[in-house]
Amino acid sequence: MPGHAAHGGIAILDFGSQYSQLIARRIREQGVYAALYPSSAPAGEVDALTPRGYILSGGPASVYEAGAPQVPGYVLQSGRPVLGICYGMQTLTHRLGGKVAAAAAREYGPAKVTLGASAPLWDGLPAEIDVWMSHGDRIEALPPGFAGLAHSGNSPYAAIGDVARRRYGVQFHPEVMHTPRGVDILRNFLFKVCTCEATWTPAAFIEESVEAVRAQVGGGRVVLGLSGGVDSAVAAALVYKAVGDQLTCIFIDHGLLRLGEAAQVVETFQQEQGLKLVAVNAAEEFLSALEGVTDPEHKRQIIGEKFVRTFEAEAHRLGRVDFLAQGTIYPDVIESAARDRPDAHRIKSHHNVGGLPEDMDFALVEPLRYLFKDEVRKVGAALGLPDSILWRQPFPGPGLAVRCLGEVTWERLERLRRADAIFIDVLHRAGLLRDATAQAFAALLPVRSVGVMGDGRTYNEVVALRAVTTTDFMTADWARLPADLLAQVSNRIVNEVPGVNRVVYDISSKPPATIEWE
Ligand code: XMP
Repeated sequence: MPGHAAHGGIAILDFGSQYSQLIARRIREQGVYAALYPSSAPAGEVDALTPRGYILSGGPASVYEAGAPQVPGYVLQSGRPVLGICYGMQTLTHRLGGKVAAAAAREYGPAKVTLGASAPLWDGLPAEIDVWMSHGDRIEALPPGFAGLAHSGNSPYAAIGDVARRRYGVQFHPEVMHTPRGVDILRNFLFKVCTCEATWTPAAFIEESVEAVRAQVGGGRVVLGLSGGVDSAVAAALVYKAVGDQLTCIFIDHGLLRLGEAAQVVETFQQEQGLKLVAVNAAEEFLSALEGVTDPEHKRQIIGEKFVRTFEAEAHRLGRVDFLAQGTIYPDVIESAARDRPDAHRIKSHHNVGGLPEDMDFALVEPLRYLFKDEVRKVGAALGLPDSILWRQPFPGPGLAVRCLGEVTWERLERLRRADAIFIDVLHRAGLLRDATAQAFAALLPVRSVGVMGDGRTYNEVVALRAVTTTDFMTADWARLPADLLAQVSNRIVNEVPGVNRVVYDISSKPPATIEWE
């Protein structure tokens, strides 16, 4: 990442844990830049960050399986501090000559750990802490130079360290909320062991990104796909700050937007923000491309590709355009980039990354590519964007197509839009939109069910309401909305939206579900 070398951050080598991103977030919350790299990344790529230390993430493999990923040699040769978490500690142990073996009992969930020998990692911590464990293997013999630093009922070596060489391992997960003092352990690693400085701030990010965008773009012309969502809005403001009128924003109404959204976006950005904005209505084209398509990944591919093609057509109208700027953020990159992350599983391809065709005409400008959502909002605020933009409900690139399960037709979209608007309206009136629900929406299910209205039988569609609490959108819980509020929403939807006779509330967390239904 251009510029960030100056911050001397932490390189996290990713062995495929579902928590790898969380490690990065926890570190950045301390004002230290952290970046994730596949464990197989070339040394040069990782060391371009000039890291102050390395963290080895957890992962699903067993170190003694053939082909299991191992801690790379350059990490050990660097002499810099290392913290191995779960699998990361096991590969460190294995590689340095200790012994890892399958534990008699898997340890999964909460546990108590007794901190033994004093070590910089434990500064300020009590003798016993609550932790979150999730492992099948454990350390049976330490590598030379290491000492046990903590134990639990199941793990004689719940933490280990070679204090002189600044190498540490913890069997538990300090990055998750269920390890309440985990953040202190990470902070100790950053500031006591790695001697990092807390210089990663929104202002520093903006300054560096503006320079990086200017360097990349030069005198070229940039188009940006403005969706009205917070990510593209902040990207637009940042690129605008960097290159001013070299930027033209294109807003594509693909017909998959929420009720009244298109008009609102144009008004906010063209009139209030003063950006150059071209608005295109391409609803018919998108819907005809989606005709008969029900598979979620196929929908995403079609929309992603159409988006770029529509852009190209508009951009050609503008004359020469060299760059396409996008509000891609870090979770988009990580979740969809199976390419970048061979040890993890593909969940879904996000439209602004996975759906891009190979033969695009533009070079990409993605200034938010390394930011988490909460960081994007902080950067947006530092750029002076209003709350009404920064706190809009998040909305996926493929729009209502991934909330209209089954075939996407105009009639079904209209039904969905109206149901969704009712839900949001009721939540807004109850003051539950921003804090009680990080994201709320309606989905239209691909089933019909029997009902009775008046004295007649109905055979109509089902609306599912989804409201979640989350800070990072990587994990989420369903919002405990008041039953009376749900009753009101259900009542209004069946009364006001023709074609719907049943409303259900989604009580799944993520994982195992995802926030969107497709
Ligand atoms: P999931 O469904 O993966 O969603 O739990 C996590 C967050 O990402 C949003 N989302 C998307 N955003 N393009 C986007 O820009 C996409 O293709 C996409 N799919 C999901 C989702 O709304 C939630 O906020």
